[in-house]
Amino acid sequence: MKKEQEDILYMAPLLGVTNCVYRSTYSRYFTGYDRAIAPFIASCDTKKVNQKLFRDILPDRNNFKYLLIPQILSKNANDFIVMVKAMHDLGYGYINWNLGCPFPMVRKKIRGSGLLAHPDLIRSFLDKVMPNIPSKLSVKVRLGCDDNAELLALMPIFDAYPLEEIIIHPRTGSQMYAGNVDLAVFKNCLDITKHKVVYNGDINSLETFKSLKKKFNTVSGWMIGRGGIVDPFLPEKIKGKELKSNEKKVKHIYAFHNEMFSEYSKELIGLGHILDKMKEIWSYWHKAFFQGEVIYKKICRTKIVDKYSREVSLFFEAGPKLIV
Ligand SMILES: Cc1cc2nc3c(=O)[nH]c(=O)nc-3n(C[C@H](O)[C@H](O)[C@H](O)COP(=O)(O)O)c2cc1C
Repeated sequence: MKKEQEDILYMAPLLGVTNCVYRSTYSRYFTGYDRAIAPFIASCDTKKVNQKLFRDILPDRNNFKYLLIPQILSKNANDFIVMVKAMHDLGYGYINWNLGCPFPMVRKKIRGSGLLAHPDLIRSFLDKVMPNIPSKLSVKVRLGCDDNAELLALMPIFDAYPLEEIIIHPRTGSQMYAGNVDLAVFKNCLDITKHKVVYNGDINSLETFKSLKKKFNTVSGWMIGRGGIVDPFLPEKIKGKELKSNEKKVKHIYAFHNEMFSEYSKELIGLGHILDKMKEIWSYWHKAFFQGEVIYKKICRTKIVDKYSREVSLFFEAGPKLIV
């Protein structure tokens, strides 16, 4: 009997969250992901390209055990080419172009999802870039900037270029991260492209994953963002490898937390910055626990690291119940 192919899982880029500390620590504690796209690095004047810009993806700082794909936010082909080459020199042979960033300032500058309303700019960018980069290229897109028909019109344009794959988050830029994903339009895009397609959006549980997989059996990979931060076991669940009891899982998350805390303490200068980083991650983590908002509120109020550590150890030692 033919063995069913394993699903390829991507860790989504979340600027400020899935940085090199998170990725490296995560992969010491959990399995399941096959690849990660790093949060975007914005292209800049070619004279300003230096190692500092690439801090998050410097190979000696990255212990993510799986394939790491840097991402560039850009509308300038020349700057993009210089950056891809510099990333290639660091050892990255596969790059992702961000055509999905929804922030109003980015859209206004016709970058990220702002470019989706400008097929001619995308075509001329790819015309210049594709023959001049040493690396494979994929794109991460939304359904459009404001109009959810824009991507569908772009799919034949993408077909003209040897892209590695297209990662689709089926919302428009103006939706930001709220409102429903539009699965009907996603399906239309999937059906007309010759490229491989990765699905991304609201994969928050094994059940959601299974239902999406049933609907879209030609998808070549699955990207998980917020759902995988809230429930770090989610990729293992999808791969059928998560067997631990509530108690063991809570202990594991506690150990993961402690190591993240310790890594951020080495990385960041100033206790306030360390606390801010931990608070940001707790804005996701607390959703994994029954009545998690209680600890989250306490953490948000804390301004002193010792108090933070005390609250967190009281929380974990009380044996909280996971709801994911
Ligand atoms: C805080 C935050 C930061 C993000 N940063 C990036 C980024 O740097 N590059 C990118 O392509 N997408 C970024 N995204 C979008 C995610 O990669 C993903 O497409 C989105 O969260 C939808 O997937 P999800 O529903 O699984 O979270 C970000 C999302 C959030 C919430």
